[in-house]
Amino acid sequence: MAGQDQRKMGVLVHGAGWVSTQHIKAFQKNPHTQVVAVSSRKLESARRRADEAGLEGIGLYDDLGRALRHEGVDIVCVCTPQHVHAENTIAAAEAGKHIVIEKPIANSLKEIQAMRSAVRKARVKTVVSFVLRWNPLFETVKALIEDNALGEIYATEADYQHDIGSWWSGFEDTRKKSTGVSAFLVGGCHAIDAVRWFAGRGRFEAAIPSEVFAYSGGYRKGRDEEFDYTLNRWKKAKGPLEYDGFEVALVKFTNGVIGKVSVNFDCIMPYTFPIEVFGSHGTVKDNRVWSHKYPGQKSWVTIPTVLPDSAEVTHHPFQGQMDHFVDCILADRESHCNLEDAAHTHEIAFAALKCYRTKKPVKLPLNAS
Ligand SMILES: NC(=O)c1ccc[n+]([C@@H]2O[C@H](COP(=O)([O-])OP(=O)(O)OC[C@H]3O[C@@H](n4cnc5c(N)ncnc54)[C@H](OP(=O)(O)O)[C@@H]3O)[C@@H](O)[C@H]2O)c1
Repeated sequence: MAGQDQRKMGVLVHGAGWVSTQHIKAFQKNPHTQVVAVSSRKLESARRRADEAGLEGIGLYDDLGRALRHEGVDIVCVCTPQHVHAENTIAAAEAGKHIVIEKPIANSLKEIQAMRSAVRKARVKTVVSFVLRWNPLFETVKALIEDNALGEIYATEADYQHDIGSWWSGFEDTRKKSTGVSAFLVGGCHAIDAVRWFAGRGRFEAAIPSEVFAYSGGYRKGRDEEFDYTLNRWKKAKGPLEYDGFEVALVKFTNGVIGKVSVNFDCIMPYTFPIEVFGSHGTVKDNRVWSHKYPGQKSWVTIPTVLPDSAEVTHHPFQGQMDHFVDCILADRESHCNLEDAAHTHEIAFAALKCYRTKKPVKLPLNAS
């Protein structure tokens, strides 16, 4: 990675689908990076993505191995479906590239172990796209926590409520148990990460889980029709969800905080992502705050900010995430949201699955074998 000071770092975006549009845009806007290549399963998808972004003369590939050998690639974005994230990440690490890994990072603990080994061995930097850590409301709440506006945090809650279905380009892979695994893993990991983030006492710290108990349910599993809440009618789905669409978990953290988290793919309503943080001297409910810092407070103080209330990738703060990652690379420091940290978030999703089998609280860390 010689010459990083003199030239812009080159970015390869792999997996030319929905989310890749925002990775490209963010790295185009960062003053220290330029997108030098796009790869995907189909060459025409890579070409279309490059054309749409106005990227001329860049490398276009339908093979990750060849794309990784493209001149000047320093950073690789893994934007493929989750069942190939592990192999993509390992290949990028072995090629000595820094890596942006889309969530969920992998489909099993075993895959995560292999990714961690490859990344540690290559000594490359990683950031995982728990992009809400850069959402303005999230940033405000963490600043309030750091400022002791809520006192000692003892409970956090978050819910990922999203009618994941045939409308999503990624649905065909994620609806299947073999490639999607579970609702917590596919989308609910954002809410799991949020309860960890708000349970962490430091400004840039997420809490470490020590025990999980969970239930799953809902009505959609196995149905090949889905409800369109905009038209108020059932329609044929591209295929059935092969796992429960609703999961709820209680999480104990090593610092004593208790988290309550759910994922709901079965909900009949537009996307929402409610959050709650309870402390000994204050409370946050979405963007409403009650705090001992406002002694004359007679009603909730409402923070005018951007809420995590849209599933649209253009609404997500990818710019903040990628700028942070570039800063980490340039300053040679680890991201708070690196692969090691994200492994804790994923462990909670896997612990929930174990709990459905054992019907007992699951102690963490889990054994990867
Ligand atoms: N952080 C967030 O908030 C956020 C938001 C949205 C999505 N995501 C995550 O991002 C990932 C991608 O999601 P998406 O919505 O962008 O899905 P998507 O639109 O289906 O895009 C994935 C792309 O990867 C390509 N692909 C599929 N299999 C491949 C393979 N084996 N090798 C190489 N390329 C392959 C496909 O392109 P071809 O046309 O070449 O087949 C597809 O367009 C998922 O893990 C998803 O959970 C995260």
